Amino acid sequence: MGNRCAVSPLSCLVTTSYRPDVRVQGQATQVARKLKLPFVDRDKQSLEQMYSRYMVAGIVVVSKIKTSYHCPHGEFFFHPDKSAMRIKEIRAGKTDQMIKAMDLYPGYSIVDCTLGLATDAIVASYVSGIAGKVVGIESSPIISTLVEMGLKSYEQQGKKKVVEAMRRVRVLNAEHGQYLTHLAPNSFDVVYFDPMFRKAKLGARCPVDRLRPLADHSPLERVNIELALQVARRRVVMKETRTSQEFDRLGVDFVVGGKHSPIQYGVWVVGSEGHIW
Ligand SMILES: C[S@@+](CC[C@H](N)C(=O)[O-])C[C@H]1O[C@@H](n2cnc3c(N)ncnc32)[C@H](O)[C@@H]1O
Repeated sequence: MGNRCAVSPLSCLVTTSYRPDVRVQGQATQVARKLKLPFVDRDKQSLEQMYSRYMVAGIVVVSKIKTSYHCPHGEFFFHPDKSAMRIKEIRAGKTDQMIKAMDLYPGYSIVDCTLGLATDAIVASYVSGIAGKVVGIESSPIISTLVEMGLKSYEQQGKKKVVEAMRRVRVLNAEHGQYLTHLAPNSFDVVYFDPMFRKAKLGARCPVDRLRPLADHSPLERVNIELALQVARRRVVMKETRTSQEFDRLGVDFVVGGKHSPIQYGVWVVGSEGHIW
């Protein structure tokens, strides 16, 4: 389990919404056990009262509707974000730059080494389909737990394909370097990295901002690219900003991205393949 996240899990507690029923109460104690955090009865206390009384940096709140992490900077909870819109565009025949960089097809297996909100993993899961496989690795225990719960339970009316894609993503709480070390060579078609950007956020409303206080901010290590190149059968892909020096530092084979997009994808090709963009 990774321990390089901005918030130490020890400075947190788990509680419920104001009026929990038995199911919510049970779920909250399970979450506390899984995260190895103390469970505290809500007992009509406001979150502000709980921060100062228990001297914690954050509080995980389990309610009927969702499980979220609260801290003085804001709230983090699972939401499919832009994945539904991206899937709609793919269905309409538009190019998704991440899918193009991965050169992804139905039946492919992907390990997403930086799961975060799972937006990219859901899109990859949609494209790889029921014959494919997506495993998401996340080093922050709170992010991985909340996202795993969301992927299993989130309902979106009229979005059957998106929900099915969500349900197929398997989540593991691990540091990706440690996880990759234990994989056999050629065990996934694509290995994907989307580390926290080296340069500050792209815009005030960037969805990743919500997980910033909980996230692992370490830069991608060259040794993990080497491991990924052994694990991948086809490609290793990394997402970064256009102006970042990371692609040069890590030595990508080539870069894929929309002409005007601030985001680009660095690609390493493993072995010979038919499609070079
Ligand atoms: C920019 S976010 C990824 C966003 C994601 N691609 C999405 O679509 O929602 C980066 C995530 O990777 C996680 N992370 C960073 N370094 C990691 C590592 N070494 N192992 C596992 N997870 C890591 C961070 O905690 C954070 O949640």
